[in-house]
Amino acid sequence: MKLRLVSTLSLLCVLLGGPALAEEGLRDKAKGLFQPIPQNAPVLPGDTTAAEKTALGKMLFFDPRLSENQDLSCSLCHNPSMAGVSGQFLSSGRHGELGGRNVLTVFNAVFNASQYWDGRAAGLKEQVEASVMSSPAALLKTRGGPMAIPAAATASAKQHVIERLKTIPGYVDVFKKAFPDAADPVNYDNVARAIAQFEATLITPGAPFDRWLKGDDAALSPTQLQGLALFIGKGCAGCHNGVNLGGSGYARFGVVQSPSVDLLPPDDWGRAAVTKKVEDKYVFKIPNLRNVELTAPYFHSGSTDDLKEVVAVMASAQLGVALAPEEIASIEAFLKSLTGPAPEIVLPMLPPNPPRALAKPAN
Ligand code: HEC
Ligand code: HEC
Repeated sequence: MKLRLVSTLSLLCVLLGGPALAEEGLRDKAKGLFQPIPQNAPVLPGDTTAAEKTALGKMLFFDPRLSENQDLSCSLCHNPSMAGVSGQFLSSGRHGELGGRNVLTVFNAVFNASQYWDGRAAGLKEQVEASVMSSPAALLKTRGGPMAIPAAATASAKQHVIERLKTIPGYVDVFKKAFPDAADPVNYDNVARAIAQFEATLITPGAPFDRWLKGDDAALSPTQLQGLALFIGKGCAGCHNGVNLGGSGYARFGVVQSPSVDLLPPDDWGRAAVTKKVEDKYVFKIPNLRNVELTAPYFHSGSTDDLKEVVAVMASAQLGVALAPEEIASIEAFLKSLTGPAPEIVLPMLPPNPPRALAKPAN
């Protein structure tokens, strides 16, 4: 019924003003719902030495010495060559039993109103502060991978990491440059500040959708335009909107119809674990859809790689509608227009460990 009305309207548009007018109408609607990614990385509040902090944050992001056992780095799970994720089915540092949730991308995460599938960290700095890459024993059965371990359980692990960084002369100098006013700059708060500042540079402006929003008619194909019209018309944009087409609010997974237990395992209550409210059971952060074609697997459970299946599940679970295969295909084509060029990263050179005494032979 609704669909028939939409197609009659678009037919009228075509008859009255031609396709150009129809496209302008769609663009006006889209501009009210979405914003392009800004060209320049946002500077986080209170930042005066952004370039030096970004340089330090980049080093820390790639350095496994930031983890208790020196075997995990942020870049291992948030690989910048893989759109900020690991591409693995669930994030397991090493073993399949680790982690309980799918990795979220760090690309464009700076535009999210909260971090993690359950929004338990307010911002990028808080995300690092509230967590540490600690030992596998502590990770077992923790939801959300190593960064999910509660701060209280990790105070000593953090202390070890800071003590280790302090022994590396190259790091002490870089911390001093990034935090010139601090008497003792090598501390976890500054680690978090610097990593957050680096993550804020991991943005992907210039996606075809953004170019179209800014007026480039040729940036989207007719199928992608149809997909966009459906994305708005069917109600996807009611949840997935803003700069990241998500990232700013929460919704129950299964508003209308509960998805299968593979997609929504019953033991992960989502936001309810944070708010302790029963009405938040199975509520999750509406995820960022930027670069979504590159960030499989999908859903907090990481239970499917198939973007077409994801679109079909969303339509039935969140909106109670069954989409035709052509509609699914055009929405998928639209989602692919959200892929932007990867941020250019020159790999940092990490300072070497201080010399240490060689172990003495046994006899
Ligand atoms: C072993 C894998 C692993 C490592 C190492 C890791 N993460 Fe994550 N990260 C995850 C997983 C899994 C999630 C989603 C967890 C959840 O939502 O409960 C996540 C979520 C995040 C998010 C939230 C993004 C969003 O859109 O909400 C940020 C930011 C982040 N990690 C940054 C980091 C930083 C910085 C480091 C290094 C200090 C790091 N991660 C190390 C697996 C990892
Ligand atoms: C009522 C709010 C709501 C509506 C409407 C909605 N979504 Fe979602 N969407 C979500 C939530 C919440 C999730 C996360 C589900 C989970 O894994 O727990 C999600 C997940 C997704 C994902 C997976 C992203 C990832 O990285 O794993 C895609 C793609 C997506 N939605 C597209 C769509 C499309 C297309 C539509 C319209 C057919 C739609 N959504 C309608 C709330 C919504």
